Amino acid sequence: MCGIVGYVGRPSGQVSTEHQALDVVLEGLRRLEYRGYDSAGIAVVADGAISSRKKSGKLSNLIAELEANPLPAATTGIGHTRWATHGGPTDQNAHPHLSDGGKLALIHNGIIENFAELKQELLEKGVTFQSETDTEVAAALLGDIYRNQLGGDKANGGLTKAMQLACQRLEGAFTLLAVHADQPDVVVAARRNSPLVVGLGEGENFLGSDVSGFIDYTRRAVELGQDQIVTITAESVEITDFFGAPAEGKEYHVNWDPASAEKGGFPSFMEKEIHDQPDAVLQTLLGRSDVDGKLTLDELRIDPDLLKSVDKIIVLACGTSAYAGQVAKYAIERWCRIPTEVELSHEFRYRDPIVDAQTLIVSISQSGETMDTLMAVRYAKEQGAKTVAICNTNGSTIPRESDAVLYTHAGPEIAVASTKAFLAQITAAYLLGLYLAQLRGNKFQGEIKDILSDLGKIPEKVQSILDDAARIKELGESMVDAKSVLFLGRHVGFPVAMEGALKLKELAYIHAEGFAAGELKHGPIALIEEGQPVFVVVPSPRGRDSLHAKVVSNIQEVRARGAKTIVIAEEGDDAVKAFAEHVIYIPETPTLLAPLLTTVPLQIFALALASAKGYDVDQPRNLAKSVTVE
Ligand code: M6R
Repeated sequence: MCGIVGYVGRPSGQVSTEHQALDVVLEGLRRLEYRGYDSAGIAVVADGAISSRKKSGKLSNLIAELEANPLPAATTGIGHTRWATHGGPTDQNAHPHLSDGGKLALIHNGIIENFAELKQELLEKGVTFQSETDTEVAAALLGDIYRNQLGGDKANGGLTKAMQLACQRLEGAFTLLAVHADQPDVVVAARRNSPLVVGLGEGENFLGSDVSGFIDYTRRAVELGQDQIVTITAESVEITDFFGAPAEGKEYHVNWDPASAEKGGFPSFMEKEIHDQPDAVLQTLLGRSDVDGKLTLDELRIDPDLLKSVDKIIVLACGTSAYAGQVAKYAIERWCRIPTEVELSHEFRYRDPIVDAQTLIVSISQSGETMDTLMAVRYAKEQGAKTVAICNTNGSTIPRESDAVLYTHAGPEIAVASTKAFLAQITAAYLLGLYLAQLRGNKFQGEIKDILSDLGKIPEKVQSILDDAARIKELGESMVDAKSVLFLGRHVGFPVAMEGALKLKELAYIHAEGFAAGELKHGPIALIEEGQPVFVVVPSPRGRDSLHAKVVSNIQEVRARGAKTIVIAEEGDDAVKAFAEHVIYIPETPTLLAPLLTTVPLQIFALALASAKGYDVDQPRNLAKSVTVE
């Protein structure tokens, strides 16, 4: 939700300046645009003044504006790409917002919950507002404190002190970045419940919502803690809390390279990320077990005795990550015999859940910043539960605040629709399940080794689906006029069906629903009419026989009512042929691992259909990659 970049380099004329603020900030925004693309804006400090440009719509609109109305050369700047919360996606509501007579510029990610009360206070002081945003209120507050409380005097602490005082008044979630014309070589930032990372350079420093905001310039990053303020210049990084007490960040090395966040020759990030999936699974498995199949999850720093005493697991996640959790539930319960619930993070806190010291909370989040999940994890911690994060983003907030983390090594996922993270999340959750089974003695080492060996074969099987994707693409393209598509599945195929429907909703903007196939006759079958496309994820005929037979019956039920059935089945499953308009075969694999394969055709289908409609598959309308508001 909103991408934020800040940059300070050495002032020109003083020492050679390698980078222009405009270039660094635009490059950062380009990489962070996946976080929000309702509008974009930039402010630089040059010649003792703030110059800013902002434009509704995608970053390309801002770039066109900058070409028409260039900004002056500068070595200090901030930039923002917005996912609208307060106020629609207009030029006026775009960030930066100015105050202190145009001398101060502020950008913001998050929501200021007490903005109405602060706005009233400022209106009474005679402040006027141009936008409908909470951000402009924060900018006005900061400007008022800087000018009227601190006398606009650097000796009184300047912009840093003003930011501290402003943050003491703000409620909600925010990352704020500010520049002031009086302090041309400084960017001041603050964070509460919203992401912000510092990038350390040589004679230049950076700020970003995540490391991709500055990955082209440095791999040295500093994590900031909760409620911290950071002041960067070209030569220094100073961190305090909201009350001015010195604080420290944690430095770390970013271990992915900028190329992995590029399209790599594919027309879209999504297509590239679908093709990254064999490697995402492989990397997530790598180095986590020995030749005897003994799992060593070094990052899981929870006392093994504590893990042995766990009597309940609650998986917390949203969207695609929640579907990964639902898939994992089947495996964890089967392998560990621990009751496992999967709960949408945003529902969790509000139902008075039963959580105690014997509860293991497993949060799943690609970004590690999803506010709903973060809040649910915090709540569970307060109740005494142990928390493990399955996460794809190093240094993000959820793993930082959890007792332990199991990273998925899928590499940066840029497309808003999650693909490779999903497969990596299932893989990591399976490793966790097997580890618990090993620890608690629910499975013999040989059994764990066999499952790991099956998991090890997944990358090549996913690759074989990708190599044979032409027919699935054609199918997607041929269904460009579909008004509605239904997805059915049972057992682990049920969350896969819901994930297939979600991909189609978010990419192609058409009605899509995933159902448990057995539920159909309890109501949804009324939706079936002549020509209704229905995908059916069929379990292996080698698994529980009755399950396969029941799904085949479900196919017949919808077909008898006119549905056009598209069946995803295991190679060699000839029984389904007679009931399907189209059959997509996937390689043989044990039932519990099948979601790692059956999901892939559904991703390819949604991508092809949305592309045929001419939609932007990387940045679908109304969405943002990382949902950092509740
Ligand atoms: O970063 P997270 O995994 O916590 O994000 C959770 C959901 O917002 C995310 O999976 C969302 O549903 C995706 N757009 C799905 O493609």
